[in-house]
Amino acid sequence: MTRITVVGSVNLDFVATAPRLPAPGETVTGATLARHPGGKGANQALAARRLGADVSLVGRVGADALADEALALLRAEGVDLSQCAADDRAPTGVALIAVAAGGENQIVVAPGANMECRPENLTMAPQGALICQLELPVETVARAVALAEGFVCLNLAPAAPTPAETLARADLIVVNETEAAFYGEALNALPGLVAITRGAKGAGLYRHGELIASATPPPVQAVDTTGAGDTFVAALTLALLEGQAPDAALAFACAAGAVTATRPGAQPSLPTRAEVEARLESVR
Ligand code: RIB
Repeated sequence: MTRITVVGSVNLDFVATAPRLPAPGETVTGATLARHPGGKGANQALAARRLGADVSLVGRVGADALADEALALLRAEGVDLSQCAADDRAPTGVALIAVAAGGENQIVVAPGANMECRPENLTMAPQGALICQLELPVETVARAVALAEGFVCLNLAPAAPTPAETLARADLIVVNETEAAFYGEALNALPGLVAITRGAKGAGLYRHGELIASATPPPVQAVDTTGAGDTFVAALTLALLEGQAPDAALAFACAAGAVTATRPGAQPSLPTRAEVEARLESVR
């Protein structure tokens, strides 16, 4: 079984599903409220687990009731949480998410305890491959990457200044179009693969700025795109670790993201491997 360590964020998502997203300064009413486990790190850990990997999550939650709710699915499905400690200096991270008809979203994160996950808390090299995002302090991500001995996937979300040596160590970088614009030409100078996601339009895989593979997701009725990018990250990492060719790996990741978008919530919507393979089969 492929071994993956995710060093990343844990949030509880409060999701308001509304007829449409508000403009700045506007109030939109008529929404329904739900709460789901989320956080990019936790979502990627659970996505990798459901797709068949042996997964550990390194992170921080608050010493509060929200933490139990945020970790419930990870715990139930066998993600190793022995390095995901409770910290009494800050509350569990929370994301306020507005979702519109059609699945588009807006997210505001109050990171809380995620920012208490410090470099000195990382006491050993990540087991197997490493996946990180940028919802922890950037120094913690840099330390995790520096300690890694295997494959490193860096999901530069949300985009933030990142040390050059951290970017250069990544075997795979995953960004959406907004994040790609933030890093600009610097991405083309990196030695690793760079995947750029474009939502329903698909994704491209680049080396030194040259397109080496592209894929489009199977057509789906999007309900909530929250977590689709996280599923893509986990699925692409796993497929490349399994030795799938770039085209096949990208198609697998796009299909995994597409299935996620058909269901509400981040972690409840993450697909199993069988679901992704069935969706791929349906468009062959
Ligand atoms: O990528 C989606 C995630 O971003 C949500 O689950 C939310 O918690 C934010 O971190």
